[in-house]
Amino acid sequence: MPGSANLNVMMKTARKAGRGLLKDFGEVENLQASTKGPGDFVSRADLRAEETIREALMTARPTYGFFGEEGKEIEGEDPTRRWIVDPLDGTTNFLHGLPHWAVSIALEHKGQVVAGVIYDPVKDELFFAEKGEGAWMNEQRIRVSGRSRMIESIFATGLPFAGRADLPATLKDLGRLLPACAGVRRFGAAALDLAYVAAGRYDGFWERGLNPWDMAAGLIILREAGAFVEPIREGGDIFADGEVLCANEAIFPQFAKVIRG
Ligand code: IPD
Ligand code: CA
Ligand code: CA
Repeated sequence: MPGSANLNVMMKTARKAGRGLLKDFGEVENLQASTKGPGDFVSRADLRAEETIREALMTARPTYGFFGEEGKEIEGEDPTRRWIVDPLDGTTNFLHGLPHWAVSIALEHKGQVVAGVIYDPVKDELFFAEKGEGAWMNEQRIRVSGRSRMIESIFATGLPFAGRADLPATLKDLGRLLPACAGVRRFGAAALDLAYVAAGRYDGFWERGLNPWDMAAGLIILREAGAFVEPIREGGDIFADGEVLCANEAIFPQFAKVIRG
């Protein structure tokens, strides 16, 4: 099992933030029926989680940079290393009391993600990977699925909400993909979608309009689990385009062909 000092810091930090969020999640369930709703409470929980993570990581590694969803990027004294953090991925689920959300922490070195941790506190599932050391969930090694037939495969995606620009492209994808596969899921937390492909639960995933913090930890977990991971646009760049397409090795060419039209 991988166990570098950096990875240990990341795992401990993800668990710490996860514990805080889990407490808040209990409160959110009580707030559903109130007239004001849990909106403000959840924004505060989200910010608090990022603060907890930033403080823990910057204390452990004071020279690294920090790039989180909720705050301004902090440039480190060491310009080659930075943390990429989504303190709460799946906010809409969290807000609605749906038990499917996660903390995502990645470490980037010279522009490459070298370690990643995704923690789902509700299920107590910790997905992690470090370059060259394989991908893991808790004490178990994980690998992508072995399915090679589209008609037996399940894919996950994110659906553009609240008027986001990617709707026409996503509807086209679904029109081509749904008749050819065993189903498409939209669970609402991109970090967990990536982890689930790595663990062989989904056979593939694609989404447009993502940010680096949604994907960074997932990318290394996927690669270490044997997945093929590419930008949707051939020759593109995953972070710059904000798009990702991933699947097990056997299904990837067929899946990519459908999504790329
Ligand atoms: C969102 C989730 C969702 C995806 C959105 C993301 P957030 O992240 O990952 O599954 O479809 O594009 O923005 O806002 O919950 O951190
Ligand atoms: Ca996110
Ligand atoms: Ca978030």
